Order: sequence, then C-alpha cells, then structure tokens
Amino acid sequence: MKTVVSGIRPTGKLHLGNYFGALANFRKMQHEHSCYFFIADYHSLTTHPTPNDLHGNVKQALVEFLAAGIDHEIATIYVQSDVPQVTELYLLLNMNAYMGELERVTTFKEKARKQPENINAGLLTYPTLMAADIIIHKAHMVPVGKDQEQHLELTRTFARRFNRMYNHEFFPEPVAYNFGNNLVKIPGLDGTGKMGKSEGEGNAIFLADEPEVIRKRVMRAVTDAGPTQPNQEKPEPVQNLFLLMKAVSDKETLDYFEDQYNHCTIRYGDLKKKLAEDIIRFTEPFRNRIRELSADDVYLRKVLKAGREKASESAAKTIREVREIIGFTEF
Ligand code: TRP
Repeated sequence: MKTVVSGIRPTGKLHLGNYFGALANFRKMQHEHSCYFFIADYHSLTTHPTPNDLHGNVKQALVEFLAAGIDHEIATIYVQSDVPQVTELYLLLNMNAYMGELERVTTFKEKARKQPENINAGLLTYPTLMAADIIIHKAHMVPVGKDQEQHLELTRTFARRFNRMYNHEFFPEPVAYNFGNNLVKIPGLDGTGKMGKSEGEGNAIFLADEPEVIRKRVMRAVTDAGPTQPNQEKPEPVQNLFLLMKAVSDKETLDYFEDQYNHCTIRYGDLKKKLAEDIIRFTEPFRNRIRELSADDVYLRKVLKAGREKASESAAKTIREVREIIGFTEF
C-alpha cells in the first residue's frame, strides 16, 4: 500500500469531465492506497479572494468532492490550512528552492502574464508549497494530470535535495499517477476539446447544474448541417455529443442515434433532447447530495475535524523528524 496525496484548488464547480476523469481516479485509489485528499486553500490566496469567496469556495469544493464519491471514512479529507505543519515545511523547503528554478516554471510564467499587477511571492513559490503538501505525508504517488508534471518534477528535486543535504534517505520521490487512457474522456459542448478546457460558460455541464441549465447548455451545443452520405465519419462536434451520450445514456439510445446518423435521418434536436434528459437523470443524485450537504454544516464540520486529526498526525510526525534532522534539537 502506497501513500497518495492530491490537492484540489477550490475554484470552480466540478463538471462531468472531472467526475469521469480525475475524480474517477480518486474514487478508485481510495480503496487501494492510503490517500490524503485536501482542498488547497492556501494556494488559492495567490489570487486574493475575498474572505467570503474563500470560505464559499472551500465549502463548495468539499461538498462536491464528497458528493462525487470521495469517502471520508476511507480517505483522509482535509483543508490545507487546517494542517499548519505544511507551512513550516514550506518555509524550510524555501531555504533550498532557487529563484532560477522557480522562475522557469511554466505555470508561474503564465500567471505572471495573466496578472501582471499581482506577481506575488506566493505565486513564485507555489511549487514549494505544493511540494510541502506532498512530502509532508511522505507520499509516493500523486494523481494529477500533465499540467502538474513540472511541479511534481520540482517536488522530486526538493525531496532529493533535502535527502542529499542531510545525508538521510528521508523523503520518497513521488511520481505522477494517472490512469491515462483508461479514463473516459469527456468532451466539451463547444465543438472542440475536453470539457472544462475553455474558460467560458457553456462548454461544461456541472454536477450542481439545475435541469433547466443542463437543457439550455445541451441544446446550444455545436453540431453541423447533418450527414449527407450513409455511414460517413462524424466531425468532432457531432462525435463529442455521441461520446457524451455514451457516458450517460443506455446502449439502446446510443445505437438508435448511431443508426439514425448512419442513415442520414438524424435530427440533432431529438438527440440533444434525449441527451439532456439522460444527463439530468445521471446527475440527479449528485445534485441532491450537493444540496443536502450544503445545508448541513454540522456534518461538514465533523468530516473536517476527523480529516484534520488524521492529516495532522501524519504531518506532525514528519515535521518532528525534519526538525531533528535539520538540527532544531533540544538543549
Ligand atoms: N496545483 C494543483 C492544481 O492546480 C493543486 C495542488 C496543490 C496539488 N497542492 C497539491 C495537487 C499537491 C497535488 C498535490 O491542480
């Protein structure tokens, strides 16, 4: 059994792509490994949210995470700022993190370009904080996508540097873990690419979306003028609707519309209506669960208290040992 750590930024709602993608990874891993999943609220301060936004976003992330099947009785679920040992390790790692390597990070350069008025030190040291998140539990694996690979590479560098500096095989070097091709890829509704890829509304269907919103979004999805030859290949926007249907509808439905397409008798309006209803049916339990959990702060507090205790125990042990190794020893 390995130790797994992953963090999610409390920004934006979970969409179907997350549900079938990263969250599917988490749901599976929680049964196979010792998992720590946390909400990265310190990280989110780099963009200066208001106190209300910060709290609301953390709550939403927690609620949707639980609703999407992350089981707090199996995995350890906590809020990053509930485990302040992380910040101590962050400080210690920063002493051996170099400007040059931090400035080279692609996500930093992108952020600096996007928010030139707020290129703060937290943004620069985002990877050090992320490394602290991961190695505070001496994790072996981190289930993240390609966009986080560079951060993970730095995490390994920091872990190795610490081990070498103090001549102590202390931190494991964590590797990325993803099911890659085994995951169902959910396309967006705007005709190209993955769900959630473009920032605008309309590309995604969120787990919390109300039926009316889902209907509107699906009906607006991009299609084409329709097939003109039997069995012709589907262009990407049309193929995307079929992929979505494959994820949420039954086989008969899918076969029926495939057949209609192949005979050039398809009416996209009918397909979209059916797809919307099937998405509404599929997401109904999540919508209900999100509503229930949002109204139950007592329960959420209980979940977070248990998570904080479990995560703190692991983090405190690491920090105790790290302090000893560095030379913060008692007189
Ligand atoms: N940087 C990650 C993201 O943008 C979030 C994150 C913060 C994280 N700390 C982490 C992911 C530790 C995995 C492990 O998605």
